[in-house]
Amino acid sequence: MCGIIGFTGTAEAAPVVLEGLKKLEYRGYDSAGVAVVGKNGLGMVKASGKIENLCKKVEECGGVSGTTGIGHTRWATHGAPTDTNAHPHMSEDGRFAIVHNGIIENFAELREELIAKGCHFKSETDTEVIVHLLSLYYKGDFKRALMKTVARLEGSYAIGAVCSECPESIFVTKIFNPMIIGVGAGENFFASDVTALVSHTKNVIYLEDGEIAELTPEEIKFFNAAGKPIEKKISRVAWDTEAAEKGGYEHFMLKEIMEQPHALKSAIEPRIKNKKSVLSELNLSEEQLKGINHIIITACGSAYYAGCAGKYTIEKLTRIPVTVELASELRYSSPIVDEHTLLIVLSQSGETLDTICAMRELKDRGVHTVAIVNVVGSTIAKLADSVIYTYAGPEIAVATTKGYTTQVAVLYLFAVYAAEKTGRITSEEAEKLTAEILSIPSDIQRAIDLNSHIAELAEKYHDNSSLFFIGRNVDYAVALEGSLKMKEISYLHSEAYAAGELKHGTIALISEGRLVIAIACYEELFDKMMSNIKEVKARGAEVLGVAAEDMKKIFSEADDVILVPKTHPLFSVPSEIVPLQILAYYVAKANGCDIDKPRNLAKSVTVE
Ligand code: F6R
Repeated sequence: MCGIIGFTGTAEAAPVVLEGLKKLEYRGYDSAGVAVVGKNGLGMVKASGKIENLCKKVEECGGVSGTTGIGHTRWATHGAPTDTNAHPHMSEDGRFAIVHNGIIENFAELREELIAKGCHFKSETDTEVIVHLLSLYYKGDFKRALMKTVARLEGSYAIGAVCSECPESIFVTKIFNPMIIGVGAGENFFASDVTALVSHTKNVIYLEDGEIAELTPEEIKFFNAAGKPIEKKISRVAWDTEAAEKGGYEHFMLKEIMEQPHALKSAIEPRIKNKKSVLSELNLSEEQLKGINHIIITACGSAYYAGCAGKYTIEKLTRIPVTVELASELRYSSPIVDEHTLLIVLSQSGETLDTICAMRELKDRGVHTVAIVNVVGSTIAKLADSVIYTYAGPEIAVATTKGYTTQVAVLYLFAVYAAEKTGRITSEEAEKLTAEILSIPSDIQRAIDLNSHIAELAEKYHDNSSLFFIGRNVDYAVALEGSLKMKEISYLHSEAYAAGELKHGTIALISEGRLVIAIACYEELFDKMMSNIKEVKARGAEVLGVAAEDMKKIFSEADDVILVPKTHPLFSVPSEIVPLQILAYYVAKANGCDIDKPRNLAKSVTVE
């Protein structure tokens, strides 16, 4: 996720801003930039890649001088991670520079309008419209111009803006994105998170949606959305820099688990138009979509399991057969495909080599490839015929959490969209299903609220040497991912089985005290799961049951139970997996494992 920082004081701004950007590096980024207001107007330097590149570029150009500055680390969403697309963005007249976190949803309309008025755009970003609007509305009153600008924006933002005509002032405002003001002595700051502020000041003020602040070295003025002055309270930050990077969480994995309601909102909401799921990124006509008679989903690891989960929903809604293939197998299997096959590729990093190779193989055979990817501008994103970004924000922990759930959510959106476009469901049905998808972020929040109960269960079960996850239908797909999460971070031996398969061999391993995690959320097969639970209990297993909150019958058989939020059966996976992510996390913690960097694993697997 992008990071922003700003400083106004008596010292040179560029070193302070660059140091602040380094503190924001942990958030993940692919380019960075700085703009400073000095005696000779605005100076700006931007560079793709690491902040070291930016520092080098600043040095090479002889520095940017001035005591008011803003900076940005960009995690690309609209447009590749290039120097030009990096922030800050400057107005054509060189008077304004801005940094922006968030997404401007109506940028395409605004861009067209501004081009018609004679503006020239340099970047592919959604952000650049903001600086052109600012310049257009500026008639000598910075605050007024900013208010008129934000009145035109739809979406989410935290904006920091400077103007060469007010060299000591920074204006900031926000909607749905964090904006924190750091209160210093003879100097003031703003940032997207406290990490960039704590080395300067622990006195902060949190801006609320719609509020505006003007920072100068000596004072900070606050205004409400109507521009009227308001008073704000100072809070004291207790964190040190390291705790601040993780948002106060002990590990990135836990932070990323907790971020899921927000990540899922980012993946889902921009794709809902007039109550319907709209995938405008899909470069397939309705006719082409109607011609598809086979969908292949390919990926590795958790992304493969996301595909396994999505298969159930896509098949039920579209009635198109879906095959889910491990990328490392698909590439060598000479798959039977033709122009009626659609390939969906899932990858958080967009750089997994096996996935890239499988994709190339099918692309060369003329198959339309749709990539569902998190990292913008990644190899898979560039290779694909259609790219749908998951907008989960950077994932730092090696074990994926929000990467997985956002992939599943995008597959849900695809299922509803394709089903409506191919006439398999009516417009009214599409609206109802879309409303169910929209409630996923709040369902996930309820699953997260189970945190302390799950931590207690982890304490009870963490020293099992080997365990099994079982489930039926889509719960089997959840079992696969739950088991992978458990084994990769806790190092416990764990296997996932389709519950009905147990008695075809594996039940021989069930003995006294063996832990079986039985996922029984899929209502249609609940009674069958109860029989499977009885089978393993009869052989001495301890059972931790996972069921939807209205399936209390499970208490009669299981030793312990996690009741997860009840959802529409087609969209249940995110709320089912979150408690299992939390369980794996606390088991690993109890076992003293290196949670964010498990042994032998890498975040991006770029070798075969
Ligand atoms: C497990 C995990 C891996 C990845 C897999 C694919 O927690 O993170 O199994 O899912 O390596 O990675 P991407 O999605 O980057 O292609």
